Amino acid sequence: MKVTVVGAGNVGATCAQRIAEADLADVYLVDVVEGLARGKALDLAQAAPIVDHSRSIEGSEDWAGAAGSDIIVLTAGKPRTPGMSRDDLLQVNAAITSSVVESLMPAAPDALLLMVANPLDVTTYVAAQVSGLPRERVIGMAGVLDTARFRAFIAMEIGCCPSEVTAMVLGGHGDSMVPLPRHSTVSGIPITQLISEERLAAIVERTRQGGGEIVSYLKTGSAFYAPAAAVTQMVGAILRDEKRILPTCVRLQGEYGMDDVFLGVPAMLGAAGMEQVVEVDLDDEERSALELSAQHVRDTVDQWRNLQQDA
Ligand code: LAC
Repeated sequence: MKVTVVGAGNVGATCAQRIAEADLADVYLVDVVEGLARGKALDLAQAAPIVDHSRSIEGSEDWAGAAGSDIIVLTAGKPRTPGMSRDDLLQVNAAITSSVVESLMPAAPDALLLMVANPLDVTTYVAAQVSGLPRERVIGMAGVLDTARFRAFIAMEIGCCPSEVTAMVLGGHGDSMVPLPRHSTVSGIPITQLISEERLAAIVERTRQGGGEIVSYLKTGSAFYAPAAAVTQMVGAILRDEKRILPTCVRLQGEYGMDDVFLGVPAMLGAAGMEQVVEVDLDDEERSALELSAQHVRDTVDQWRNLQQDA
């Protein structure tokens, strides 16, 4: 198995580390910045004797090195700085995504594309447009991260083991994301029985702002440990054919009553990639929040289309 990680910044390099050290695949790290991917790959390879894995980790500036990849993780793009929304990255990151996918396609036409750069739902749309790959092969990582934040905050509130918390966050990766307390439990107990309505509302809001909270501390970039952990779980689900149901950004084709929009929904991930969209029962409030989130993604995609027409 081979995974190419595009972008050797914090997110990309940490993905490379987690994927190799979890013994999931050989990793090829690629970055246009001269020497960056080579240096980080070499550093990671030198940790192998200590960490005890035999995965190869290589890096360079050459797209051709992606040949033979099962999955390509695309992290290339600018991160946010304080005060920016993910959408503020639209012009620069959508353009980077478009040129990166174009450069990669000749080397790895059949790889599954796992998008990470923001605004996530739009870069996933751009990758799908440029690659022409079917929806099973172009997905985005956001919901696993947003859900992990929700789970971590719930665990901190209760003082319980974080992995005992299961939760669901739907929608776009932005302020309009839709955490679903009704579908969230601790060891099977609905969280609504364990946490007051008021505290839960605060946790939902903190989850929505979860990325921004970290940007405000780091100042020069955004989160990378939890995003890389989320990517690694999705990569593992696919490479090991685990059939995990994970919140994933996918193109909806009729599910949730929506067509042709990229949005975070529960999806089964296995050897074929995005194998199935899972439809959850939503009440009126949840449904309208999801529709609002979808409208926001549509508007941002339209902005990108307009930018391209003006160019
Ligand atoms: C975050 C960025 C990576 O949510 O979107 O931290």
